Amino acid sequence: MSPAPLRPDMRVQIGRLALKNPVMVASGTFGWANEYAGLVRLDALGAVVTKGVSLEPRAGNPQPRIAETAAGLLNSIGLQNPGLEAFISQKLPFLHGLDTAVVVNILGDTPEEYARLAAALDGQAGVDALEVNISCPNVRAGGIAFGSDPGAAAEVAAAVRAATRLPVLVKLSPNVTDLVAIASRVAATGVDGLVLINTLRGMAIDVWTGRPRLGNAIGGLSGPAIKPIAVRAVFEVSRAVAVPVVGCGGITGWADAAEHMRAGAVAVQVGSATFRNPAAPVEVEEGLERFLGELGLRSCRELVGTVEV
Ligand SMILES: Cc1cc2nc3c(=O)[nH]c(=O)nc-3n(C[C@H](O)[C@H](O)[C@H](O)COP(=O)(O)O)c2cc1C
Repeated sequence: MSPAPLRPDMRVQIGRLALKNPVMVASGTFGWANEYAGLVRLDALGAVVTKGVSLEPRAGNPQPRIAETAAGLLNSIGLQNPGLEAFISQKLPFLHGLDTAVVVNILGDTPEEYARLAAALDGQAGVDALEVNISCPNVRAGGIAFGSDPGAAAEVAAAVRAATRLPVLVKLSPNVTDLVAIASRVAATGVDGLVLINTLRGMAIDVWTGRPRLGNAIGGLSGPAIKPIAVRAVFEVSRAVAVPVVGCGGITGWADAAEHMRAGAVAVQVGSATFRNPAAPVEVEEGLERFLGELGLRSCRELVGTVEV
């Protein structure tokens, strides 16, 4: 009988953020985590990433906000959230009690708003890091997303970096022509890591009524359909920048996570898959650990960037 494989070391470091394992849940797909208590072993997660938090409450977009497509999900939630104050008083206490890292996703209309959020969350017990969603309209630039312009993306990243001592991850938008150029500018601001990718702009139409299937007409596509795009983004960006890259997009099982990691991701996030199977993120972690053991790797870090091209 061959000896049982050794358990690999699953700990990862994303800049100054230390995680017990590389599997997080993706922003907006796991609520404030309390919704999943009792359904999922929350302490088995590497980190919980919250829904996006803005300075003021946001009501979100008109219904319907979700439409299923052949291999993915279209959503136009519209960044609904209770705002910073209610987040701190009503949502953070539960998150603080969890035995896992808590990453707060933030969004704003101007770089100053992002900076105010970052400063206010600095020093709040229970917040381990920030994730900056730059796929939001830059109100001063006529609504073009911060994330689609290298200068605006870097301006937001630098503003957040300067406003907090917390580790900062910046989540990039794939709806751009040159992702590497944007990633390079953002990485140069001194942030701790990049998260790739947010959803891709998409649309679906009911041919009988002639109406869009989302109240907002256009939404963001996620799920298995976007995995090859996300893996390509992780591959290209991780080779071009010196900061750690977190892979997100189309991960439903451990092999998808392993693919992201071979492409260059030091950690991963599981998003839409959780809607079909709430235990998906935990199963991804367990499967990944088994896979690494079978490969004979001593640490999950040994898998990162091992794609041979
Ligand atoms: C319903 C829904 C809500 C989301 N809300 C946010 C959000 O508030 N902030 C953010 O940065 N990303 C948000 N996302 C994007 C996800 O975090 C993730 O980047 C995307 O879904 C791709 O991963 P997946 O294919 O595993 O779902 C949302 C995605 C979905 C499906």
